[in-house]
Amino acid sequence: MTKDKGIIFAADIQQESMLLAIAQETCAYIRGVKVGGVALYENGWGLIEKIKRVCPRPVYADLKLMDIPYVAEKLASRAFRHGADGIMVCGACGRDTLSVCRKCAGDKMVFVFTQFTHSSGLITDRMADTYVGVALETGCDGIQVPANRPVRIGKVREWVGDGLKIVSCGIGAQGAPMGSAIKAGADYEIIGRAIYERALAGESPREAAVDACHAAELVDKAMNLLTLS
Ligand code: XMP
Repeated sequence: MTKDKGIIFAADIQQESMLLAIAQETCAYIRGVKVGGVALYENGWGLIEKIKRVCPRPVYADLKLMDIPYVAEKLASRAFRHGADGIMVCGACGRDTLSVCRKCAGDKMVFVFTQFTHSSGLITDRMADTYVGVALETGCDGIQVPANRPVRIGKVREWVGDGLKIVSCGIGAQGAPMGSAIKAGADYEIIGRAIYERALAGESPREAAVDACHAAELVDKAMNLLTLS
């Protein structure tokens, strides 16, 4: 059975009408929409349902939860109550916070942030490995591994097998080529600026989403051919 692979659109856009227009325009080419602080602080939880109305794909609330279990549970439950299909939680919170979020998620997803894409981030490979281990232990659904560190993606994939989805940021604006994270073993490439900045510049974000989608599909097809041969 082939696994679903593709693009998650990181909608880090403050202006709601612009965000919804881009989500609608790119919907056919993406597997989900990720909204974080930039969009949620500005527009509130109701934004999640609004996105789903114009783009019927999973919406992931990138809360980057980094808190004690009591507070994390409050925020996670708010996100799920407002229609989020998944949330992002920081691995550094540890077992108790991740367990509470996992329980609160029910049949929705919990992704664990393991390591930064920017070079001055302070999470070492060893620390990131600990977070991957806790994500597995607590039954979380996925982990975020940087696309601009493809060797890490490969190593982590070898370790977790199909036990966790791997989502990967750092494509486009941060330098990793489209398709490269999937080639290294990720399931989904999270892409923001490389898509929405086209719209902010008055161009078509749809074309950027099409390019990203094709890159992901080409890599996926080539990998499936390799597996079959
Ligand atoms: P771009 O660069 O494509 O960013 O505009 C898209 C999304 O990726 C997220 N991002 C990260 N999230 N740890 C995270 O938890 C990271 O190291 C990281 N790098 C990029 C960013 O929040 C944006 O939504």
